[in-house]
Formats: sequence, C-alpha cells, structure tokens
Amino acid sequence: MNFSNDSEEKVFNEIFDQLPTLIKDKCSDYDELYGYKLNYNDSKEKLVEQYYDEDIAKALIFKICKAYQFDKTKIITSIVDILNWRKSFNPLSAAYKETHNEALQTVGLLTSYPDDEPNKRVVTWNLYGQIVKKKELFKDSSKFIRYRIGLMERGLRLLDFNNDANNYMTQVHDYKGVSMFRLDSEIKACTKQVIAIFQKYYPELLYAKYFVNVPSILSWMYDLMKSFIDEQTRKKFVVLNDGNKLGNYLKSCPSENYGGTDKKNNLQKQDVDTPRPTPYALYILESQANEDID
Ligand code: HEM
Repeated sequence: MNFSNDSEEKVFNEIFDQLPTLIKDKCSDYDELYGYKLNYNDSKEKLVEQYYDEDIAKALIFKICKAYQFDKTKIITSIVDILNWRKSFNPLSAAYKETHNEALQTVGLLTSYPDDEPNKRVVTWNLYGQIVKKKELFKDSSKFIRYRIGLMERGLRLLDFNNDANNYMTQVHDYKGVSMFRLDSEIKACTKQVIAIFQKYYPELLYAKYFVNVPSILSWMYDLMKSFIDEQTRKKFVVLNDGNKLGNYLKSCPSENYGGTDKKNNLQKQDVDTPRPTPYALYILESQANEDID
C-alpha cells in the first residue's frame, strides 16, 4: 500500500479500525469481499483464526480508499453499500453454484497470462458480438446480470491482492458480428445495469478494457456507452477496429483472431477452468447450503 501522504494513511487507519463495527451495525454482519474475510473482531474467533488474512483485508480496503480519493464519508458509504449488495445479490453463488444459460457461458471466457505485463495477467473476455442476435438472452436482465457477475467473481479469484503486478484485471469485449443502427432496448437496459453494478460495487479492479472488432459505423454506440461511465474508468478504454491488433496491447493473447504471441492455442483453448473458490468462500457457500437444508 502506497500512501501519498500522512493524511491518506490516517483515513485508512481510521476506517480499518471502524470496520468490525460497520460490519456489525450497518451490514447485518455480512463479512465477505471477493471471497475474503474482513472482520478481525468476529465473535466467532475460530473463523478469524481460520480465514482472516490481514494483508488481503487491508489491500481490499485500500482499493476502496483509493477509488474515493481517501474521502472518509464516501469510503464508508461505499463499504456499507458493497457489503449489503453482496449480502442480497450473493455473487459467490453466481460464480460457483448457479448454472447459467449455455450460450452465455460460451461467450464469457477467462484467461491467465502469468508472464504478461503487470495487471494484464488475468483477462475476462466477452464475445458479445456472438449473442447480439440472440435477443432472448437479454430479456430477463437478472439472469444475464447473474451470469456476468459470476464471470467477474471468477476472474477476481485469479488476482493476487498482495501483488501489485496482479491486483487489477484486464477485460476484452469482442463485437465481431455487430452491425446495427439502433440499440435494442433490452440490450441497452441490461448493459446499463451491468455498468452501474461494476462502477458501484467493484471499484479499483479494472486495469484496461479493450473493445475489439468495432467498425467505425458503431462509434455512436461507444459514445452512448461511455456516457454511463465515470471519467477515471473511461481513461482505461481502448477501441480497436481490427481484432488482430489486440496482440500489440496484450501480447500473450492468441495469435488466431487477436494477433498475440500464442500460436498454439486459440481463445477457447486458453480459457481456464473454473477456479476453486477461496477457502472462506467455500465455507460461506457450504453454510448457505446447510441453511437451505435446515
Ligand atoms: C459495456 C453488451 C455494443 C461499448 C457493455 C456491457 C455489456 C455490453 C453487457 C456491460 C459491461 C460488461 O459486460 O463488461 C453489448 C452488446 C452490444 C454492445 C450486447 C451489441 C449491440 C457495443 C459497441 C460498443 C460498446 C458497438 C462500442 C465500442 C461498450 C462500453 C461499455 C460497454 C464502452 C462500458 C464498459 C464498462 O463498463 O466496463 N456492453 N455492447 N458496446 N460496451 Fe457494449
């Protein structure tokens, strides 16, 4: 954690000290962020012994502090909002327990490039161009959102929050096949909701986002989508007309279709298996399953 000045460090320490009270009083005791335990004062001491990792808890809180420029009130609001949202949405279930529509599963991939540049080592891919004609997938936005959040959470599992070279993720959207003059209202509504969730509940996790195979006639769509995004996030976006140019930015990506250095594997072959949840996430998922049985 690199603080720019003493006042940032002071805000961070005050918030970290307050964390157990916030979790207890404002988050109905929901104590989990991206599969990690935050509460070091849990009355169930065994859980602290078994699952609490101070370095990771601090790294995660530091991210939220950074996202809100160490503004104490905003950070507290964000922590409370994120944990309450996680309690009601249950992203761990979306990532590891639920089965999503097969068509969606084939367009969402996860690759791992341990030797690539810092923070380009975990990449989530969304081949949205392949499903643009399957409008039924966007009809029930909650199903789409649960699928997309599931993919996000599995990607986060591959990050290492103790390593500055691998504590952000990179994302690719491939729009090959999209050509339209009007954006379907259901796609728009769904997209808007996903964008809002990422902005609010997943701060400081995105390193770069590449939009590939975007023909120039669709630049109006980019302008529209951008209007839902904050300035800081926008700076991380790169739009490429030609998908084969992606290799200039993400060298370990497949040579096939994306111009990377991997000549042996196409994207589907690079796709990694579902990662194992963190031990604490497994504990939570098991506790939920036991509650369901009871
Ligand atoms: C975000 C789908 C076309 C630019 C998104 C998201 C979805 C989506 C679901 C939410 C964020 C995510 O999943 O990571 C689609 C579909 C399209 C389409 C189905 C087909 C019509 C386009 C086009 C562009 C574009 C042609 C032009 C470059 C963006 C931008 C975001 C976005 C800038 C915000 C990214 C973010 O919040 O991280 N899109 N999109 N989209 N899309 Fe598209």
